[in-house]
Amino acid sequence: MEQVRNIVILTGAGVSAESGIGTFRDAGGLWENHRVEDVATPEAFARDPDLVFRFYDMRREQVLEVEPNAAHHALARLQREWPARSGGAVMLVTQNVDDLHDRALGASDGAEVIHMHGEHLSAWCTACDARTRWTASLIDSPPCPSCGAPALRPDIVWFGEMPYRMDEIFAALEEADLFVSIGTSGAVYPAAGFVRTAADMGAHTLELNLQPSQGTDWFDEARHGPATQTVPAWVEEMLQG
Ligand code: APR
Repeated sequence: MEQVRNIVILTGAGVSAESGIGTFRDAGGLWENHRVEDVATPEAFARDPDLVFRFYDMRREQVLEVEPNAAHHALARLQREWPARSGGAVMLVTQNVDDLHDRALGASDGAEVIHMHGEHLSAWCTACDARTRWTASLIDSPPCPSCGAPALRPDIVWFGEMPYRMDEIFAALEEADLFVSIGTSGAVYPAAGFVRTAADMGAHTLELNLQPSQGTDWFDEARHGPATQTVPAWVEEMLQG
């Protein structure tokens, strides 16, 4: 591997599994006998908003009960220490809608977490487009704190909707020397395609996952095991190397 400066990291549900948040595809992805895909779409929301609100209320409550694990803390350390050590940048992109990366990072100059699939602890007003930190229920359509309209929905990118901040992510993939995918099954696009974009642009690619993902053959290198072990070990290597 040539000298690494710019790193792009993509995380998925596997990074939060050991904090106690179930992954999507490992357990069959069912909720009260609904397929997750059937409650996480704009069509489901139009058909039965209360069902969708209940689903996200439960998930929001779960996020408030769990804590970041050693993998989140190690990635936050890399974000804080890598720029001064290498002169390069770390972009941390997550498909996760929990706030565990954010809590591990804390207030940090310049470093941030890109939530390409949205956030549980945020509500989006479809009337005025404002986003508000939200920890309560959305059932009964509470008014938007910005405009007063009863038009809040979970700030989640549903199936069939466009993930957030894709231009910035693709720009970083083009500049990346190293792309690392952690705890994601590689089943959902466009995130599942990042490895090929990064590789096409010359980056070394590494997978850290419990088991080989669907896209494992696209990676130059793969290390398999629980994220709380593989991620701190890899971060230590990067910061010592
Ligand atoms: N450490 C590392 N990896 C793990 C661990 C662990 N402790 N536990 C599970 N995994 C791996 C699984 O082997 C699996 O490959 O994490 C991956 C989780 O895959 P998914 O459940 O498919 O989750 P993810 O890839 O994040 O899903 C992508 O799909 O449902 C949508 O929008 C949702 O963001 C989500 C997207």
